[in-house]
Amino acid sequence: MTRIVVVGSINMDLVTQAARFVGPGETILGERFLTVPGGKGANQAVAAARLGATVALVGATGDDAFGRQLRQGLAAENIDLSHTIELGDCASGTASITVAEGENQIIVVPAANARVTPTQVERAQDLIARADAVLVQMEIPLETVEATLRLGHRLEVPVILNPAPAQKLPTNWLKLARYVTPNQHELAILLGADSTEDFRALMRQAPCPVVLTRGAEGAWYREQGEPSHQSGFQVDVVDSTGAGDTFNAALAVFLREGLAAAVRKACAAAALSVGKLGAQGGMPQLHEVEDLLARSN
Ligand code: RIB
Repeated sequence: MTRIVVVGSINMDLVTQAARFVGPGETILGERFLTVPGGKGANQAVAAARLGATVALVGATGDDAFGRQLRQGLAAENIDLSHTIELGDCASGTASITVAEGENQIIVVPAANARVTPTQVERAQDLIARADAVLVQMEIPLETVEATLRLGHRLEVPVILNPAPAQKLPTNWLKLARYVTPNQHELAILLGADSTEDFRALMRQAPCPVVLTRGAEGAWYREQGEPSHQSGFQVDVVDSTGAGDTFNAALAVFLREGLAAAVRKACAAAALSVGKLGAQGGMPQLHEVEDLLARSN
C-alpha cells in the first residue's frame, strides 16, 4: 500500500454560500452556512486516504471544540494522528469561506497551525523515511516547510511542495522539492516574476520540476524540455474549494505510476471533488476515479 506523510494545516471551514460576493461595507443575505473540516494539510490527508493510501498527518489543533471535531473526522478517515499535537493554550485554525458565482474567497486564521515546528517534522523522521511521498503546503511556518524539504531530500523521499498560499521562496528550497505544484498565479509569486508572463515560460525558468494546475483546463507538467498538457474532465461545479488539495493528494498517491499517469488521475480526482459543497465533501474514493477514467477512455 502507498504510504503518504502530509505536513500541513488543519482548519475548521466556516462556509457561506451566497448568490454573489459581498463588497466592502455591504451586507447581503446568504443562502446557506456550513461548518466543515478543512485546511490544506488535512484535506490532502483525507483525499489521499480515500484514494487508498496509508496516511499520517504532522500538524496541530487547539484543545477546543473545533479541534476535537477535526481530530475525530481525521481519525474516522483512518489517518494516523500520532504526530498531530493538541495545544492547550491555542485556538484551532479556521478558514472563513464564501462560495459564490462558481468561485470562492478564503481568509485563513492559522492559530495552532502557526505552531507546527521543524522539531515536530524531525520527530516524524522514521515515518517519513518509510513514506513513498511527502506532501507539504504553506499554511504552516515557512521554517517547517524548509525542514520538511530538507529532511525529505536527505532521506531521498520525494516531497511535493504545494506552494499555497503563495510566497516567493529561495531557489535552493525549490531545488529540494521533487515537484512543485502551483497554479499560474502562485507560480509567478513563487518565482518573484511578473504574473502576466506566459506560464509555460515561467515553468521553463523554474529551478525544479513543476506541475501547474489550470482548474477546468486540467494541468501542465514539466520535468525538463517543453511542458506537456493534460486536459481537465468536464463536470458541474458546486464548490471548487479543496480541488487543488485533491489534485496534490492524487499526484502523490499515483506518483509511482509515472508523472503523466499520475497527473491524469489527479485531474480526474480533482474534477470529482468539485461536485459537492465543502472541501472534503466531494473528495472521491479510488473506485470513483477509476470509473471516471474508464468512461473517458
Ligand atoms: O485548499 C482549501 C483549503 O484552504 C480550505 O479547506 C481552507 O481551510 C483553506 O485552508
